[in-house]
Amino acid sequence: MTMTRRLLLIIALLLPGRASGPSDPFEDIPHGQEYPREPEEVDRWVSARNVTAMRSHAWYLFDQLTHQSHGGLPRWLTWYQWGDDLERREPARDLVLFKPFALTSEDRDSPHLKDTTTLYNRSAYQTIINRCLGSPEKLALYAKCPGRNIPSFKEDAVAIKVKFIDVNPSGCTEVPVWDFRKTPGATKFVEWPRKVKVGDSASCEVPLSRFYRAKFDGTVHILVGFHVATREIENWVWATFWWHDAPTQGPFAEGRPRHMAEPWNQFLMNVSYSMDEPPETDGSPHIAYNPYLEGTLFDGTKSNCMSCHRRAALLVKTVKTKEVVALEPDHRILLSYGDIRTESPGRTVVRGSESAVTSYFNQPFEEMLKLSFLWSLAADHKGERVLPKPAKESDCSCGK
Ligand code: HEC
Repeated sequence: MTMTRRLLLIIALLLPGRASGPSDPFEDIPHGQEYPREPEEVDRWVSARNVTAMRSHAWYLFDQLTHQSHGGLPRWLTWYQWGDDLERREPARDLVLFKPFALTSEDRDSPHLKDTTTLYNRSAYQTIINRCLGSPEKLALYAKCPGRNIPSFKEDAVAIKVKFIDVNPSGCTEVPVWDFRKTPGATKFVEWPRKVKVGDSASCEVPLSRFYRAKFDGTVHILVGFHVATREIENWVWATFWWHDAPTQGPFAEGRPRHMAEPWNQFLMNVSYSMDEPPETDGSPHIAYNPYLEGTLFDGTKSNCMSCHRRAALLVKTVKTKEVVALEPDHRILLSYGDIRTESPGRTVVRGSESAVTSYFNQPFEEMLKLSFLWSLAADHKGERVLPKPAKESDCSCGK
């Protein structure tokens, strides 16, 4: 796969005084009663279908992540990107955005450029570096460990994925808005029935202040999608936030803390603490997606974060005498209505715990190397931004 890697220097607007000098910019979600939660407690919420508790925890995470760090940036912007040094002492001045997965040609034709990037907190990134999770050779070794799993992340590991779209700073830009019941199946942004005019000139409907935004090369990038995964439970807790022009209405607004301020109170939210629970009204497994991210995938509006991420896995093949890791080459997938379609594995929509582990066609799931739900570990960007060396090579083996 050819990697379209756009380096994008983002200068966050309206930054109050940044920390200068050799301070460590990283700021985590504070650890305490609220986080990380005990897995037993989270399991109780799931089995009791306690949606209020699940949502309230997700809002808590979002509130903490968007909280202003000591350097002025929202906390999540102080997190690590693939290739960063663990011990970096530089304040996070710039955000380098990159796309681990190439866009489809349809996306490229859309008037809005898509930009997504993944960030890790220190705990997650430490595990990635110190357990050599960026090294194809070490991954091939892990594939021989019992259960074919990579080493576990710690319970305070967190990964996020953010999605920006571009707007014209001097005019109005039509930004698609997702209305759940009215737009059930549309995929490409151009097909979404409702758009709002965004910009600061008089004819626009929504001012830029209602977005978190960054500026680069004369273009303003607005944040429309925000994914969070925390390793509080083994299957991770999944929550997603997306921009809406009426953010106080409907079930996805419920439970937002009142003190959250613009632009962070402009987001709606949904959660996936389980591949199945709580079920949809027709009894089928739980749906949770972000319209700006999975909403643009085929069948994405029927997806569930956890079921797709359960499938984050690699196939280990033997080529001559060398073991190599590769993505499962047969990308056929069985759709909910029985059709077979070809998609890359990371874009395959499956839902429910059963289908999460049964739909790799020419390789049983058990034979794949499981990547602890993190699809970014399967992405084809390793050669481009190599990870720093682990503290001890000997930590990169089974059972440690
Ligand atoms: C159809 C499959 C699929 C679904 C459904 C899906 N994701 Fe992902 N996700 C991916 C892939 C593939 C990547 C890695 C490549 C990328 O960043 O686009 C990823 C990356 C991520 C990351 C970065 C960390 C990592 O390595 O996985 C987070 C966090 C994340 N997704 C959260 C979510 C949340 C929350 C939801 C549900 C609202 C969700 N995802 C639904 C496929 C999916």
